[in-house]
Amino acid sequence: MSQWIDVAAEDEIFEGSAIAVTPQGRDIAVYKTESGEVFATNNICSHGNARLCDGYLEGHEVECPHHQGRFDIRSGQPTEPPCIAPIKTYPVKINGGRVFLEI
Ligand code: FES
Repeated sequence: MSQWIDVAAEDEIFEGSAIAVTPQGRDIAVYKTESGEVFATNNICSHGNARLCDGYLEGHEVECPHHQGRFDIRSGQPTEPPCIAPIKTYPVKINGGRVFLEI
């Protein structure tokens, strides 16, 4: 059964960047776009052993730091090779300045 878990303060995440959080031992990247929207995906790239929190966020796309593949952080769908397999996304809500993920 899924539950909402408090993972970070919203102001810990700067616009245009991501942080890593590890609720229940999962490695999850939480992103804030330049316009202040927050999204969450699995942190590990589906193409290899790279952490997307170390990548480059542009609009709604994150570029993997390893081979520059890309994913849409809203859907987890790959948008640029060599990434082919999607990554898991997590529902996000902001409440009282805290970021909650449904896990
Ligand atoms: S490990 Fe991410 S693109 Fe290769």
